[in-house]
Amino acid sequence: MSQDHRFPEGFLWGAATSAYQVEGSPLADGAGLSIWQRFTHSPGLVKNGDTGDVACDHYRLWESDVRLMRELGLNAYRFSVSWSRVLPEGRGRVNQPGIDFYSRLVDALLENNIQPLVTLYHWDLPAALDDRGGWLNPDIPGWFADYATVMYRALDDRVRMWATLNEPWVVTDGGYLHGALAPGHKNLWEAPLATHQLMRSHGAAVQAYRAEGKHQIGLVVNIEPKDPASDSSEDLAATRRAEAYMNRQFLDPAIHGRYPEEMREIFGEAWPDFPQSEIDQIRQPVDFLGINYYTRSVTCDDPKALPVRAGRVRQKRHAYTETDWEVYPPGLTNTLTWIKENYGDIPLYVTENGAAFYDPPTVEGDELSDPLRVDYFRTHLRAAREAMRQGVDLRGYFAWSLLDNFEWSLGYSKRFGIVHVDFETQKRTPKASARYYSQVIRQGGL
Ligand code: BGC
Repeated sequence: MSQDHRFPEGFLWGAATSAYQVEGSPLADGAGLSIWQRFTHSPGLVKNGDTGDVACDHYRLWESDVRLMRELGLNAYRFSVSWSRVLPEGRGRVNQPGIDFYSRLVDALLENNIQPLVTLYHWDLPAALDDRGGWLNPDIPGWFADYATVMYRALDDRVRMWATLNEPWVVTDGGYLHGALAPGHKNLWEAPLATHQLMRSHGAAVQAYRAEGKHQIGLVVNIEPKDPASDSSEDLAATRRAEAYMNRQFLDPAIHGRYPEEMREIFGEAWPDFPQSEIDQIRQPVDFLGINYYTRSVTCDDPKALPVRAGRVRQKRHAYTETDWEVYPPGLTNTLTWIKENYGDIPLYVTENGAAFYDPPTVEGDELSDPLRVDYFRTHLRAAREAMRQGVDLRGYFAWSLLDNFEWSLGYSKRFGIVHVDFETQKRTPKASARYYSQVIRQGGL
């Protein structure tokens, strides 16, 4: 293997999941309702009426899932905690069985030399907090920090890596602006408020960690590079707005202590003047950033696509995934170098990267060939390695996802796993992409 394809000693090789997408048993052992439980049980909101009631049954199959991770050779696993398992009403009373579940999982991971990376919020807000306005309520940073503190006290003796929020952009855009995700609001005026309370909550949880925790904490964002469709001033301006909206709206306040000026251009009067003292609290030193990368967007001016007024141009010569995302590996290199240029030399992890391609619902035998996904991982791992060659301090990579799982409003119709799940029988079958990834891990490179 050439030097260019070798990854450093100590590099984290992981896979990622999130609570609502894999656990099932959403109300077991005293857990409270989450907004996703409500959303999936509201007719017509999720494809085929699918719910996370069973999902991958990971809440009951966690031991064999950890064994599977060990067999694949993973040395890291990123999962999220369901807030309403731990605090059924979102605040106040702690539900010890909920904590015990995650504590047992962490122990099992460590016994198998798999380092846990724990995400505190991957979209499943306690419904009781949504009843109080959810991410719009200015008290939520305190509620989130209290919940985070319960988790730090329970697990920080064993967990060395924490993430506050997963992809706040998706929470705001999908949950409050366009309504495709829970809690399903469509409101231009709410989206900026949700952004601000999410980011204040991130800041509050980092501050709480500095008081309680001994290891590392960071933020996970999704970045989709925006490449202009042409050199016209309209397309260039649309590209700048799209980049501010998706890629800088959250990192700018977290790292630089300001929102991009384009936010006002995008939201008009709906973007308020947030007090600088609150923005200053968002800006807390983080130990790392987690970057989720799936695709890029070739961007054009589109006056009808409100509020950003930017559209996406399909690339005829490139492959697209089942979620209609362009396969574009150089975008991962560009993303990682862009982060370094714009936000400094912060240690980075690719906390999600992967693709949905068609796989059959059931597998005959114990082999499943998924050549498109193998190719996706091969080319994206190369792209990650290339960013390191260009000086990016990349310390780990997590494939999305360990298992085929509940893909939010698309239900079970899209499969992202490196391990196939038969949702009738819960049988797990590693795909060729899992075997390929295992081999990369064993070799320490490509
Ligand atoms: C999310 C995952 C999701 C994946 C694929 C990311 O935005 O963090 O929960 O399943 O993308 O859509």
